[in-house]
Amino acid sequence: MKDQAVIAQKSPFYRELKKGRAYFWCTCGRSQKQPFCDGSHKGTTFEPQKFVAEEDGQEVLFCGCKLTKTGPFCDGSHNNIEGAYKLDDPTSAVNQSIPVSPKQGAFTGLDGGCYVFSPDLAELQTSGTVSFCSVIDKELGALYQSQFYLRLKLGLSPAMVFGAHDAVVFVASGAGSATIGGQIFDLTLGTSLLVLAGETLQIDALADDSVVFVSICSSSASITFSDDTAGHATASNEPSAIGRCVQVDEDLKQSMGERYFQMLVVKPEGGVPAAQFIGEIPTSKAVPHRHLYEEALIVLSGSGYMWTDTKKAAVSGGDVIFLPRKQIHSLECSGPESLYVVGVIMPGDNPTINYY
Ligand code: FES
Repeated sequence: MKDQAVIAQKSPFYRELKKGRAYFWCTCGRSQKQPFCDGSHKGTTFEPQKFVAEEDGQEVLFCGCKLTKTGPFCDGSHNNIEGAYKLDDPTSAVNQSIPVSPKQGAFTGLDGGCYVFSPDLAELQTSGTVSFCSVIDKELGALYQSQFYLRLKLGLSPAMVFGAHDAVVFVASGAGSATIGGQIFDLTLGTSLLVLAGETLQIDALADDSVVFVSICSSSASITFSDDTAGHATASNEPSAIGRCVQVDEDLKQSMGERYFQMLVVKPEGGVPAAQFIGEIPTSKAVPHRHLYEEALIVLSGSGYMWTDTKKAAVSGGDVIFLPRKQIHSLECSGPESLYVVGVIMPGDNPTINYY
């Protein structure tokens, strides 16, 4: 009979590794040298798991709870252990001493390159029926992704190409249809649509002021608008993700502590280097934590605060939060209604992996 693993810690261990060195991850949870083996598994059915670092400075999160299915690394399983998903008190003396950063136009800067962007207050450029602005890019500190806010007038947009990069379109308001290389996709509130590198996208908006966000897998991406609507599709590279065009579906919700999320785009092997999810945060403030991925969060509805080390900014529907890798933060839902967000993480495929 298999022995029971011991929970060494209800969160992962962050480590920076040395290229070529072998690390022996403790699988039994009994080692006193976590996350590594100290021989304590002797007499049990467990064996340590070897991992050889692929590069110098490789950053990893070794599983501490020993429940991961992707050992030796954390897969987020720890979040659903009772008492593991810790909450913070936004009214504590320490938190009360953190001031709300004032909005200066569309941009509110927080610590470590984190910021909140309010497209409603931004200056927009126009091409045909599309008014747009950049929300996330290299200039604003992103390393892996760009994001554009597009407001569409009723009718057919110009053709749009996002260069040599895959992109994910999310419909934040309005409805219509999208054409990619002759293929037509229905767009409704909450639709997520993959546009592969080199493909031409054209949107027929059925409602004035429809809003879509385009996340592109490069920090220096741009949108090229043209009248060439012949359409180009990379049909041979059909994505093997959940689907090219995905809708929000209550039945696909997964829990993460007291929060819920649904994956919209999953990074396929060798494919789109991003993952997109929709999440629900009930009235609460998570304990400040970090991620190894860069994250863009579109606030769909609800209200709250984005907290970093020494600052916080108010957020509500329509705002976008940019979060650099490893920046300590917490997103609080302060209103009576849940906060709904759509997140894009790069590089990565699992939005439940966090560390302290
Ligand atoms: S610490 Fe075990 S899955 Fe995260």
